[in-house]
Amino acid sequence: MLESIQRAGRLIFRLPQTGLDWSFGNALNPLRHLGALTIFFLWIVLVSGIWLFIFFRTSVNGAYESVEYLTHDQWYLGGVMRSLHRYASDAAIVTLVFHVLKEFVYDRYRNARWFSWTTGVPLLWMIIPLGITGYWLVWDQLALYVALTTSELIDALPIFTESMARNFLSVSSLSNRFFTLMAFVHLIGLPIFLVFGIWLHVFRINRPKINPPRALMAGALLSMLALSMVYPALSQGKADPSAVPANLALDWYYLLVYPLMKSWSPGMVWLLLTGFSLLLCLAPWLPPARPPAVARVNLDNCNGCERCVEDCPFGAVEMKPRSDGKKYASEAVVNDSLCLSCGICVGACPTATPFREKSSLVPGIDLPDQSTADLREHVTRAASALRGDRRLLVFGCEGSRGLARLENTETAVISMTCMAQLPPSFVDFILSRGLADGVVLAGCANGDCQYRLGERWTLQRLNRTRDPRLRKRVDNEKIALLWSEPWSDYGGPKAAVAAFRNGLNKTRPASATSAVPKPGRPAAVVLAWGLFAAASVVFTFWPRYSQLQAGHAIISVSFSHAGKRLQECHRLSQQELQKLPPNMRKPTDCPRERHPVSVVFRADNKPVFTITVPPSGFWKDGESNIYQRIELPAGPHRLFIGMGDTGKAGEFDYESQDDVSLSAGQHLVIGFDPMTRTFVFK
Ligand code: HEM
Ligand code: SF4
Ligand code: SF4
Repeated sequence: MLESIQRAGRLIFRLPQTGLDWSFGNALNPLRHLGALTIFFLWIVLVSGIWLFIFFRTSVNGAYESVEYLTHDQWYLGGVMRSLHRYASDAAIVTLVFHVLKEFVYDRYRNARWFSWTTGVPLLWMIIPLGITGYWLVWDQLALYVALTTSELIDALPIFTESMARNFLSVSSLSNRFFTLMAFVHLIGLPIFLVFGIWLHVFRINRPKINPPRALMAGALLSMLALSMVYPALSQGKADPSAVPANLALDWYYLLVYPLMKSWSPGMVWLLLTGFSLLLCLAPWLPPARPPAVARVNLDNCNGCERCVEDCPFGAVEMKPRSDGKKYASEAVVNDSLCLSCGICVGACPTATPFREKSSLVPGIDLPDQSTADLREHVTRAASALRGDRRLLVFGCEGSRGLARLENTETAVISMTCMAQLPPSFVDFILSRGLADGVVLAGCANGDCQYRLGERWTLQRLNRTRDPRLRKRVDNEKIALLWSEPWSDYGGPKAAVAAFRNGLNKTRPASATSAVPKPGRPAAVVLAWGLFAAASVVFTFWPRYSQLQAGHAIISVSFSHAGKRLQECHRLSQQELQKLPPNMRKPTDCPRERHPVSVVFRADNKPVFTITVPPSGFWKDGESNIYQRIELPAGPHRLFIGMGDTGKAGEFDYESQDDVSLSAGQHLVIGFDPMTRTFVFK
């Protein structure tokens, strides 16, 4: 089941990937740098955010005006920075979603990779609130919606005894301290956590790709700049608690679940969010992947050269002091829980050479179920069956596709886990012993190795810039390195292998590894960035969201009130006082627990809601918090509200009735004045 979903996902993924391979080339394909691009967009957010912060005023009256000043008066810089800040935040979500999907469909999240996956989930809980608090700071109509809905969500948690949403119901209840708090959370608190979270996320990876190639950085920045010029980010009218905007341009990337609050209870929304996050966290074990047969060190052949440590993409090998008394200072030790059995360390080990004929071929490090000795056996057997004068041995990896179709009397295909599993000495061995006339290494794709660094190390080893280097005596014209992607830089593998074979016996052989020119690439690149920019902005304003039916108004019933105590205070008699220890004697005994508060609300003599709210606090001695939002059609209404605080069913200790005329989009707040003990309609 899981495999079918992943296979289908890979097929879907390949469509844009193949198109982008064609336009960007394999190494610059943005879909191969999704994590790094997310980080780059976050850099843009940070730099533009610093500029906005310089001019931002953290007060109820100053916030909106300062953002308006940046947008309009300082449009050439502040306005651009604001748009960059918003659109780069959205672009980061787009690349992030693709990043997660890609790791999932390519099965790069289980076994030792669980750590990166699971530490990725809290990043979502940092980056989304970062966006939400950003929208809050603008203090426009969307900000008011965000503030109220977020507060309603937070109120559902047993954190505060007071209702947070009440702070945003009327102008008089707004306070500057919320802006200061939000500014702190948005500008300092969450970014610090995010930086630490990203560090932890890539902590266990060897040489994580945290910066995209320069050309991609330039493309990403230019596309965001162009978008900011063409479609500047604007506010949606100053926040006015007495009105409910009919429809809002909602940023769906950050606020996707907010509309659910209209029909679901906050508890249900929390259940969805925590359930989804938990499911994501547990995904690497649903179902658990079969543990790979991890690499094994053979101390007799390990000389402590450290190349396996350098090359392992997952930091699974470390050097420890020698334990067998040999003259070398250290020995390689594999951490089984980190090893993914890719074999890259075997390709790096200088002792994994097929020329060792007298002793048995047991390198310093090897994979138990794909040993180097078996590989040599496989190579010699496959080579002996080849016929003709242009015999090829093609080495493919787990991610290479369609290589089996290349097999014929002149071509044999040998599959390995990763291309970098093949020590360069094998290429020398094959060509110098005349086992084949050419060797092809067909990896999954440039920059997209299933085991992260395999294609990079292979290229460097064959180019003789990384140990173990290919020996100088090997004729480069007899080796082809290509990617098996259909639109790879070298064309499809079939065409590339045919071109390589044809060139083998010519005086100046054609190189299969020279890129196929693709006219029209620059235009395709511009188009791709344009589409990406459009995708980053489209869901920030479409579809528009209406929190209220046309021609309706909202009534918020919101106040705190303490129910009467369950038992009245009781004055202790002399005898009762004598029975108590001296330090606990007090004249009256007041049991703390209070009655719950019941509220009944009717409109036009019809019941709208009836609720009973328990007292807050651990000892049930605090105030009961009443907070309800109701939608009513605009027009005249007779409203009745009654409250009971003595636990007597059907009886009201306070009540009020008022005839009101609601206008469309009006927001009426009904509170309770504790001084006059009357309901207030405002
Ligand atoms: C702010 C959000 C995120 C950023 C900036 C980010 C960035 C990165 C980077 C730079 C890498 C290293 C890529 C490489 O060198 O191969 C990486 C790896 C990874 N990320 Fe993320 N990531 C984020 C969120 C997530 C999330 C939410 C998940 C999944 C729930 C996730 C899953 C993974 C996995 C499984 C790897 C390891 C891939 C491998 O071992 O081949 N990431 N991420
Ligand atoms: S590469 Fe081979 S010889 Fe070198 S430390 Fe690792 S196992 Fe030992
Ligand atoms: S097999 Fe791969 S993951 Fe395991 S130690 Fe070797 S290089 Fe590292």
